[in-house]
Amino acid sequence: MPVVRFVREAREVVCAAGANLRELALAEGIQLYGLKGQLGNCGGCGQCITCFVEVVAERVPRSLNLPTPVELQKLRRRPEGWRLACQTIVFDSIAVVTRPQMGRASLDAAVAAAQAEPLPLVEVAVEPVEEEGQEEQENGEAPDDGL
Ligand code: FES
Repeated sequence: MPVVRFVREAREVVCAAGANLRELALAEGIQLYGLKGQLGNCGGCGQCITCFVEVVAERVPRSLNLPTPVELQKLRRRPEGWRLACQTIVFDSIAVVTRPQMGRASLDAAVAAAQAEPLPLVEVAVEPVEEEGQEEQENGEAPDDGL
C-alpha cells in the first residue's frame, strides 16, 4: 500500500491505492488549507484553488494521476510540482508539502531529508474472505438454503 509522507507535519500515512489526497489528509487531521481555505473552500470540487500541495518525491514515476484539466487550467502560473490535493489520486508512495505557499523556504532542509530517505511501499497480508456456504460446498455438503 502507498505511503504519503507529509513533510511539513513530519508524518507518514499509509493509504489504499486510489486514495484521494485531500480526503486522506482531512481524515488524518492534516491541515491542507491556509486561512482563506479554512474560511471557505469548495469541498473538493477543484474550484476554490486553496488545497495546494507540492509533490517533492515519488517512489516510482506516475505515482499519482496526471493533472486533471481543472489543474492544468488553475495551476498554469504555479510552480512545477504543485497539485490540487482534491484532484490528486495516490497510486504509489509520495512525499508532499502541504500549504507550499506558506513558509516553504523554511522547509528546505526537511524536504531534502524527505527526498533522501527512500519512500516505502507497505505490504499488507490479505486474508481470503470465505463466503457463506462456501465451506460446506468445498466439503461436499449441500449449502443450507434455509428450507
Ligand atoms: S478543495 Fe477547492 S480546489 Fe481543492
